[in-house]
Amino acid sequence: MVKLIWENKREFLNNIARLKNAFRDYYEIINLNPQTSQVDKNQTWENMLFWGDNLNVSYYLINDFEEKIDLIYIDPPFFSGSNYNIRILEGDSKYDSIAYFDCWNKDLDSYLQMLYERIVVFKKLLSKQGLLFIHLDWHASHYVKLILDEVFGRNRFINEIIWYYYNKYSAGKQNLPRAHDNILVYSKSSNYTFNEERIPRSKPIKQLKREMVNGVLKNAKDENGHVIYRTVTDKKIDDVWRIPCLQPASKEWTGFPTQKHHNLIERIIKIGSNEDDLIADLFCGSGTTLTVADKLNRRWIGCDNSKYSVYLTLKRLLENRKNKDNHINKNSSIELYTHLDKNKLNLISSGFFEKDLKIKRI
Ligand SMILES: C[S@@+](CC[C@H](N)C(=O)[O-])C[C@H]1O[C@@H](n2cnc3c(N)ncnc32)[C@H](O)[C@@H]1O
Repeated sequence: MVKLIWENKREFLNNIARLKNAFRDYYEIINLNPQTSQVDKNQTWENMLFWGDNLNVSYYLINDFEEKIDLIYIDPPFFSGSNYNIRILEGDSKYDSIAYFDCWNKDLDSYLQMLYERIVVFKKLLSKQGLLFIHLDWHASHYVKLILDEVFGRNRFINEIIWYYYNKYSAGKQNLPRAHDNILVYSKSSNYTFNEERIPRSKPIKQLKREMVNGVLKNAKDENGHVIYRTVTDKKIDDVWRIPCLQPASKEWTGFPTQKHHNLIERIIKIGSNEDDLIADLFCGSGTTLTVADKLNRRWIGCDNSKYSVYLTLKRLLENRKNKDNHINKNSSIELYTHLDKNKLNLISSGFFEKDLKIKRI
C-alpha cells in the first residue's frame, strides 16, 4: 500500500496505553463563574471545554471516552504560512495579538507529524459508528489524505467535500483565484451514521415518479398506463457545498480570523450525528462547532490552546444559551478544564475570562 513518508516520521501507536495513564489526572475543572459550574443536580451531562494542547487532552480523554465520540470535526491550521492576529479593544486601549500560529517555519514535516499524531489518537476516541471530518485546503489536504488512508484504511474514505465560498476575494495573477476548502470524511467502520440532507432547488422540477415492483425500481403508472410525474422542490446534497464565508457584518461573527460559517458546520453535524450524540472539536477556535452542536441538542467536547479561543467560545456559548428561550439543551452544563501553570494562573487571577474584550477584524 502507498504510504506517505516524511523526515523524522515517528509511529507511536503502542505508547497510547502508557500516555493515557500519564494524563489520567492531568486536568482540573476551573470554575470561572456560577454559570459554568455544576448548578443543577438534575443535569445529565457536562459539556467539556479544554484549554490546552489537544494531543495531551486526547490522551486524557482516552481514559473515559475511548470509542465514545460519535463525530469529530476538526479545522486545524492549514499550513498556510501565516499567523493570525486579532485586534483587542480593552477599555480605552487597543492592541493586536496573535490568535494562533500557522507558519511552521515552512517545515511541512513537522506540520504533518503534528497532524499524524493527533489523527491516530482521534481515531481511538471515535465510536464504531463515528465519522471524522477534517477541514483543510490546497496547502496540505493531499498529504493529509494519504495519512488518513494509512490510519483509517483506504476503504474508510467516505467523501471529499468541496466547500465553495463564492464571496471571498482571492488574488491570483498566475493562478486561478482559489475559492474552495477541502473537507475529508473518514469512517471508523463500514457501519456509520450518515443522515440524508436535502436542500431547496432554485426552481421546482418535474420528475418521473418511481416505485418498487417485486424488488425492482420502475416508473410508476396510473390506471391508464401513463407514467406519473411529480414536482420536486428539493434535492439531496452532493459533495460540492456552496456556502459563503462568514462576513464581519454577520451577527454570528466573533472577530476570530478563521471562524467558519455556522451553516457549514450545521450540515456536517446533521449528516454525521443524531440528537444526544457526542461531538468533539479539538481545534475549536471561536467555538462554532460547539455552539451549533449545543443548538442541535448534541453533547460536546471542545479544546483549544489559545486563550482568545477559549474566551470567545465560552462567551459565545453562554450568550447563545441566554438568548435562546427555547434552548433544548437546558440540562447540560459547561465545564472548563485546564492544566494549570503559572501563566494560566496569572491570567485567571487577572480576571481575563470575566473581562469584556471587544475583538475586531483587522
Ligand atoms: C482554523 S482555527 C479553528 C476555527 C474554528 N473552526 C472556528 O470556526 O472558529 C484553528 C484553531 O486550532 C487551534 N490550535 C492549533 N494547534 C492546536 C493544538 N495543538 N491544540 C489545541 N488547539 C490548537 C488554534 O488556536 C486555532 O484556534
